[in-house]
This record gives sequence, C-alpha cells and structure tokens, in this order.
Amino acid sequence: MSEVAITIQNVSKCFKRYRHPVDRLKELLFPGKQRADEFWALRDISLEIPKGKTLGIVGANGSGKSTLLQIIVGTLSPTTGHVNVQGRISALLELGSGFNPEFTGRQNIFFNGQVLGLTQRQIEDKYDDIVAFADIGDFIDQPVKTYSSGMFVRLAFAVATSVEPDILVVDEALAVGDEAFQRKCYARLEKIQDRGGTILFVSHSAGTVIDLCDSAVLMSEGELLLYNTPKYAIDKYHKLIYAPTEKIQSVREELRRLNQKQYHQNLSQDTITPNLTKDIGQNSSGVTQQAGEVVTEKTAAEIINELPTFALQSKPFYDPNLKPAETLSYLSRGAKISNPQILTRRKEPVNNLIGRDNYIYTYEVEFLQEASKVRFGMLVKTIKGSELGGASYRFPDEKLEDGVVKAGTKVVVKFRFNCLLNPGVYFLNAGVSGIVNGHFTYLARCIDVGMFRVLPEEDSDSTGIIDFMIKPNLTVDEVDETLSVSPEMKILV
Ligand SMILES: Nc1ncnc2c1ncn2[C@@H]1O[C@H](COP(=O)(O)OP(=O)(O)OP(=O)(O)O)[C@@H](O)[C@H]1O
Ligand SMILES: [Mg+2]
Repeated sequence: MSEVAITIQNVSKCFKRYRHPVDRLKELLFPGKQRADEFWALRDISLEIPKGKTLGIVGANGSGKSTLLQIIVGTLSPTTGHVNVQGRISALLELGSGFNPEFTGRQNIFFNGQVLGLTQRQIEDKYDDIVAFADIGDFIDQPVKTYSSGMFVRLAFAVATSVEPDILVVDEALAVGDEAFQRKCYARLEKIQDRGGTILFVSHSAGTVIDLCDSAVLMSEGELLLYNTPKYAIDKYHKLIYAPTEKIQSVREELRRLNQKQYHQNLSQDTITPNLTKDIGQNSSGVTQQAGEVVTEKTAAEIINELPTFALQSKPFYDPNLKPAETLSYLSRGAKISNPQILTRRKEPVNNLIGRDNYIYTYEVEFLQEASKVRFGMLVKTIKGSELGGASYRFPDEKLEDGVVKAGTKVVVKFRFNCLLNPGVYFLNAGVSGIVNGHFTYLARCIDVGMFRVLPEEDSDSTGIIDFMIKPNLTVDEVDETLSVSPEMKILV
C-alpha cells in the first residue's frame, strides 16, 4: 500500500446565506434567531489521496471543487469531519488568494515564502528563479493590484511551484495564462510529479485532466459522485452535464451506484483508491460502505470493462433549454435569415445529436433585394469559437431567371452533414452572400444562430473534437528466433 498524502474523512461544509446583508449583523447583535438559509456546499466527503499521485477534480460550476480545496489547504474549516495532510502544501487557489494587493510582486514573493515556511535565506535563493519563471518584467516592482489576471497567475504559479512543495493544489488557474506560459506550467507540474510530489488539480479541461492526472473525482452538488480513472471521470462528467434536465437525477443515481459497486471491489491502491477510511462509514446516499476486504490487482481498464454499461440515450432529441444565450445578427443588407434548425432524416427537429449520424441543418432566407451570384453558408464552431468546418454553396444559375434572385424570393436552405464530432456543445452560423448593386457583400449573417450538443457515448475510443472514425489495426509480427537471441516484439500499426 502506498503512503497517503491527504486523508479527508466525512467532510461537510455548510455556508450561511443571508437574504439581506443586514441580517448577518442582526444575527450577531441578537443571537438566537436564525436569519440565514443553510447551504451545504460539501456533503460527507471521504477520500484518501496517495502520496506521489496527481488527482483531478472535475464537476460543474458550483459543485464544491474550490470549497474542497480550500478545506484541504486550510483557508476554510469544515463544518463537520476532518482533514489530515502529510507534508508541506502549496496552493494556487482561485484568483485573489494568497497575495496582498498593496504589496509589490517582490514583496509578495517574500511574504508568501514566509507563509509557506521558508526562511529569508531560502526565499532569496529561489528569488531569481521565481522572477525568471513569472517573466513579468518591471511589473515585479509594481503593486500586485495593478497586474492583469495573466500576470497575477504567472507570479502566483511561479511562487507556488518554486517552494518545492510536497503537495501542490492548483485550482483552475492555468486557463488564464497564454499558451506559451501554460506549456511552461505543465512542464513544471511534470517536474513536481517526477520528484514524487502529490498534485490536486481542478480543471474544466478534459484533455488536461486525462493527460496529467492519475485518477480523478467527479463532484456534483457538493457530493463526491465517483473516484476513478481520469477518462472515466471525464466521460461520466460529460454524461452528467449533457443530460437533459429531467434525467440529471437518474444519471446521478446511476453513477453513485456504480461507484458503490467499485467501492466494494476494493480497487488496488496503485490504480484507484476508493473513497475511504479504513472503517465503516456512511456515504451521502446513506449506504454503508466498508473497505479493507479483498485487495485485487486489477488495472483501472479492467475494472472499467467490467462495469455494466449505461442505458444510454441512443436517439437524438430536442431540449428546449438548449439555446444560444445570444445570437449576433449583422444588419440585414438585402436578406433575412429565419427558422434555423437541425432535422433528423425523418424531419424531426433535434439539438441533441448522436455522433456519426446524418442530419440536416436548415434555415430560411427571404430576399428583400435583388442579388446575383448568391451563396449560402454554414459554419460549425466550438464553445471557444474555433471554426471546425462549414460550407458555402452557390445558388445554381439554372434555377434562376438571368442568374438573379428576385426581391421577395424565399429559399429554404438545407445542408446535409455527417456529425463527426465527439461529445460536446457546438454553435452554428448562417450567412448569405452575393452581388447587390454591383458589390459582393453579405446579404445576411448570423453568428451563433443555433446550438447543439453531441451526446456522450459509452465505449468511445475517439478523443479530441473531431471524430475521424479511426479504426486501429494492430498486428503482432511473428518473431524469427534465429535472428534474435533475446525475445522481442514488434507491433506494426
Ligand atoms: N463563502 C460562501 N458563502 C456562501 N456560499 C458559498 C461560499 N463559497 C462558496 N459558496 C457556494 O458553495 C457552492 C460551491 O462553490 P465552489 O466555489 O466550491 O464551486 P466550484 O465547484 O469551485 O465551482 P466553479 O467551477 O465555478 O469554480 C456554490 O454554490 C457557491 O455559491
Ligand atoms: Mg471553483
């Protein structure tokens, strides 16, 4: 059994929420009457994090990730339960923590170093390294309150990682830095891993959690729903957040049950540590858990293969809540786009799609002005706005009189497409261009006119954004023993 870096035992956290700020004061002055609503941000969390491992923490906004990290770090105390940390812990929590905004960067380095238990001499020794890593130029002598959020994270990350912590806690911070800096940060995290450090890492980036972490927990509404391999936790996280509203509870229930089942399988310490203490405890679903029965040497992959598969949504459907928050329509210059939707081949409108199925993206265009050389366009984008692919089609001249679309013409545009995307949420643009009054121009253009999600799929091997429908073909070459003394295996892909 490997050593444990952090033990979390039955930790719950209750926040008081006051409807009016003055209620907080009234409660202080006139104790006895409860003026606040209680809000349980964490519910009975138990977890053991082995030394030298990197744990990812995933979950929707408000699920309790930062609260849990703050309790581990000690900046918040649990309402009930205990946390035991073995070793020096250094943290990069959500923006704002740890630094005094009035101090300069330089002063904050010394201030933080002392808080982390370093002597003046030790900080001086590390100072140049911290400044070089942060790379914020003369700003190092400016008060931290004048920093951009990127500069702030640069300095905070440099300090948190330079003090050679036994345990490093990183809350989402890296998303703020630019790409070059992020790469540098990951290299540092890998260095900490190599020298046996333990890392807790909160991130919404699926790829990063899968790449960086040894295991991951999924948080949901203050509950630790599951503890498993990063890929498994991310898949289930997606399943949960992409579930239609009325199904969320049943998905949660199912994940809870699966976690229980694994718990009883008592996974080997080197793959996944099931949530728990050595004795009998109650988990949040009220089921008694017991650890310490049989220790098997199963790998995480084997365990996942044994899990019962979900009754997954195998049909596309329409979720009325899934709508773009905002559509940017450029001023019409001769045409109007309306009624954008995605249809199945049976013409049913849907916005929850099954990967690799065929759909039709359709919208209507009304021409308010005569135009020639008319083209209709579509574009699919990620949440961050990366353009994944699209098309622009010319209105065939033979369908028109003199190659001209007359004012008053209404056109139904249909693009058939194969949804070669991995689970996630995507946005659609629509546009019409052509020659109006002798100039080539957009007649109408709508950004984020539609939104759809691709539903998670069990047992999918595809990663990234695009599903290239990759088919592996692995052949093991026969080894000619006369040529080689020691056995060797060649795998040709
Ligand atoms: N000091 C506080 N007082 C009252 N409620 C709080 C306080 N801090 C956090 N909460 C609530 O606790 C819940 C969990 O918050 P937390 O910040 O841990 O979520 P999170 O998982 O880190 O979310 P995110 O992904 O947005 O960072 C939220 O509903 C939040 O509103
Ligand atoms: Mg948070």
